Amino acid sequence: MEFLTHDILIIGGGLAGLRAAIEAQKAGRDVAILSKVHPLRSHSVAAQGGINSAFDNIPVPTNDSWENHSFDTIKGSDYLADQDAVEVMCREGIERVIEMEHWGTLFSRTEDGRIAQRPFGGSGFPRTCYAADRTSHNLLHVLYEQVVGLRIPVYEEWHALSLVVDEGQCIGVLAFPLFEERTVPIRAEATILATGGYGRIYLRSTNAIINTGKGCYLAYQVGVPLEDMEFVQFHPTSLFGTNILITEGARGEGGYLVNVKGERYMERHAPHLMELGPRDIVARATQREIDEGRGFEGQYVHLDLRHLGRGKIMDHLPGIRQIAMDFAGIDPILNPIPIQPAQHYSMGGIPTNVDGETPLPGLYAAGECACVSVHGANRLGGNSLLETLVFGARAGRKAASNVKRKKRESNPLAFQKQSEAFQSCLHELSSRQEGEPCFRLRDELKTLMTDQVGIFRRESDLLSAKEKIRELKERFGRIGLKQKNLDFNNEWIQYLELEGMLHVAEVITEGALTRKESRGSHFRTDYPDRDDEHWLRHTLAYKTTEGARLEYKEVTITNYPPKERTY
Ligand code: FUM
Repeated sequence: MEFLTHDILIIGGGLAGLRAAIEAQKAGRDVAILSKVHPLRSHSVAAQGGINSAFDNIPVPTNDSWENHSFDTIKGSDYLADQDAVEVMCREGIERVIEMEHWGTLFSRTEDGRIAQRPFGGSGFPRTCYAADRTSHNLLHVLYEQVVGLRIPVYEEWHALSLVVDEGQCIGVLAFPLFEERTVPIRAEATILATGGYGRIYLRSTNAIINTGKGCYLAYQVGVPLEDMEFVQFHPTSLFGTNILITEGARGEGGYLVNVKGERYMERHAPHLMELGPRDIVARATQREIDEGRGFEGQYVHLDLRHLGRGKIMDHLPGIRQIAMDFAGIDPILNPIPIQPAQHYSMGGIPTNVDGETPLPGLYAAGECACVSVHGANRLGGNSLLETLVFGARAGRKAASNVKRKKRESNPLAFQKQSEAFQSCLHELSSRQEGEPCFRLRDELKTLMTDQVGIFRRESDLLSAKEKIRELKERFGRIGLKQKNLDFNNEWIQYLELEGMLHVAEVITEGALTRKESRGSHFRTDYPDRDDEHWLRHTLAYKTTEGARLEYKEVTITNYPPKERTY
């Protein structure tokens, strides 16, 4: 059996993966990145509005501080975030953002040349640094330049099939290049998952189609639990019809949310912060307006930017203007944008400590697929980009130092076994003459998740979702593929992705069904209050043959005791 071998293999070429790679390579390790798309096509590129950093950089100092940032983040999380991890992110984030500026990120500027910062939801200070409304496009290009400069190899358009575990240690992955008829074992002393979220298990999502939760499933498959997966973020403003993100930055610049009666309805839901309330609250308020008949055509509300004027829109929000024109035929300078909430982000994921280490030795995770946990039950806008840089760098650094400490020979038999299992699954599938098409199950799953495990949840819906997911898992075993060859076989890839999507959906549903309270993004109409006495704890879901088995663990509280959350 022929192997590829690296000290550290990073799966995922978005911001967290690239940042981890840079750190590990600079520490002298042999690093490679494996990604199912070219790194510049990673979903990170789609983040628009900005990255938070409390460096108090505006011409008139506001006395912002990383402690203020921590408080806003913890309150935003509905007190479920681990406070020690939040403090690390807010303190170290300042350095990470300045570093990105020094590496060449073209941040928007104030009149006197400093990095501009705009207000974002749930924050007491204008601390979101931005590059117009294409912030992450800029960040990702800058990190990719660094990766190219460091000559870090990228296996692009490669899929990770499974993690290989031997004697309780992750020793690499079995992968395949999209364009070839072969699987490739890759040995690595450390494997870092930086694979992003799972938005595409929902019908309405701002996520790219590559976001299927595969990284979470890779870990879950080998016995690593998934943490707090019931906390799914819905962004209040996605473009009606396509669900492309319309950045929170639009409200940060002063945009209004308006219902069919012409009311700025956030007056009723967050009277102080209005449109800049935290996402969970604004998304629920928006969905309520629609559900209670105050939407347009029963389906959307308006995001009105007209009062900002052409100059501000062209300077600060050119990307969303273009999106609205291209995908809805609407110029926001002249007309309001039709918007509706859509799935946007996953607060849960693979549990890690602040150095990216997971419960499985040799396996690390960073970025959206990880749960450190800095977002708890609801993430503040602008904190996800920050998380990728802070914890990407930390995971890379820690993996590099651990690899130096313990070198071991990995067992070829473990790879051999996985490769044979994969070949036999492939053989069985290709010899099946009949069977349901993969896309039918996928579409049923997405509809079910949006309808029954969405913004508002209740027991009867969750029970029926659980039942339906079981049925889909059974039908998954009878799928038939039309295309039999392995190279460029999108049907085969969809099949592989769907397996993970079904399991991730099951974990979300089980967690949501069991958590009998409302907290952050998890809103139970049958249990509308937060219940700290019973539920101030993290969920851990373990894979079993019967489905997900749940356990719980304590939340770390440092300086911010839980309080009522009002805005
Ligand atoms: O609205 C946005 O620009 C999204 C930002 C984020 O998710 O952090």
